[in-house]
Amino acid sequence: MLKFPDGFLLGTATSSYQIEGDNVWSDWWYWAERGKLPHAGKACNSWELYERDIELMAELGYRAYRFSIEWGRVFPEEGKPNEEALMRYQGIIDLLNEAGITPMLTLHHFTLPTWFALKGGFEKEGNLEHWRSYVELIRDNIEGVELVATFNEPMVYVVASYVEGMWPPFRKNPLKAEKVAANLIKAHAIAYEILHGKFRVGIVKNRPHFVPATDSERDRKAAEEIDYTFNRSLLDGILTGEFRGFMRTFEVPVSGLDWLGMNYYNIMKVKAVRNPLKRFAVEDANVGRKTDMGWSVYPGGVYEGLKAFSEYGLPLYVTENGIATLDDEWRIEFIVQHLQFVHKALAEGIDGRGYFYWSLIDNYEWAEGFRPRFGLIEVDYETFERKPRRSAHIYGEISKKGEISDELLERYGLGEV
Ligand code: FCB
Repeated sequence: MLKFPDGFLLGTATSSYQIEGDNVWSDWWYWAERGKLPHAGKACNSWELYERDIELMAELGYRAYRFSIEWGRVFPEEGKPNEEALMRYQGIIDLLNEAGITPMLTLHHFTLPTWFALKGGFEKEGNLEHWRSYVELIRDNIEGVELVATFNEPMVYVVASYVEGMWPPFRKNPLKAEKVAANLIKAHAIAYEILHGKFRVGIVKNRPHFVPATDSERDRKAAEEIDYTFNRSLLDGILTGEFRGFMRTFEVPVSGLDWLGMNYYNIMKVKAVRNPLKRFAVEDANVGRKTDMGWSVYPGGVYEGLKAFSEYGLPLYVTENGIATLDDEWRIEFIVQHLQFVHKALAEGIDGRGYFYWSLIDNYEWAEGFRPRFGLIEVDYETFERKPRRSAHIYGEISKKGEISDELLERYGLGEV
């Protein structure tokens, strides 16, 4: 049996745009209307069904819930906050607390208010004043939550939106990309100053496990380089005031982090390329069976990631970890095996404080639309009926007891890790 320490949070995660529905004020909606993205429409209709979602969490025995505030919903127009929306978010926090579920709040989870995006979003430093107003609004109106993340996966946002051009505003411009990254660090600094003290302020980093494609010196260097650029440069920027971008180095304000979140999903292999603009090619590591996202599964990566991030000396949370599959037995195996490695990290003295499965419910998976099913709970997108899968109950058992039983370990585990 594997026992997690008292107070270790076992919960689930979602984000506003992916579950709420009708976020008509957000840039993703704007671009969906113009045919560039799948439409989120009513999504899981969680804006109306949030009480049901929380009831389910409580019934299933989950101890924590990470969710986000939709900036465009609380600021649908420049300078005009929507009080009712703010009250709803406060209501969600209150309900969670009443149910004994620890809330964790994210302020930016990929989407922007359309008006802010059309002004150039985070490309323009001058726009950070609007971010400041948003953060102040949160400080003045939200309470009952301790853990607040400024940004979800800032590097994923930068790369998908400004390097690969797959997400709004669909740019392929590395120079602009690193400037946006530097501005996100500045935005974090603004938020940290406003929020730290009232909340414990952290950031959520996506951390793929990168391995060199071959044993060659060049591939090994390339893997190290991307590990720095993608996994660490932004954190170092926040903590040291020097941000090493893709091409240039930026001076940014030295700021702080009260905790660090890690989203871990997959393992990728890195190959060196002879192209000064690109330098490396990254692809799925192709080990074993692939999930419905086309990702390879490597449970040991959650341990490697926690170990690498422990060097920052901060309390760590696995803020997302999950699998897109219709094979729910595989989901159970995925959870048990990743938790085995989280447990290993804790046993070695790493300061891990929680684990959030992505996701509580099936939801809108960005440019992939509704096809990938990450949920512990199945959603019928016609009726919005929620049906807990077997994995939802099994994870509930783990969460309620704070332990993984011998029976589960025998059936789904990896033996000694
Ligand atoms: C992460 C995102 C989250 C979800 C999962 C599958 O990168 O933070 O919104 O889409 O991937």
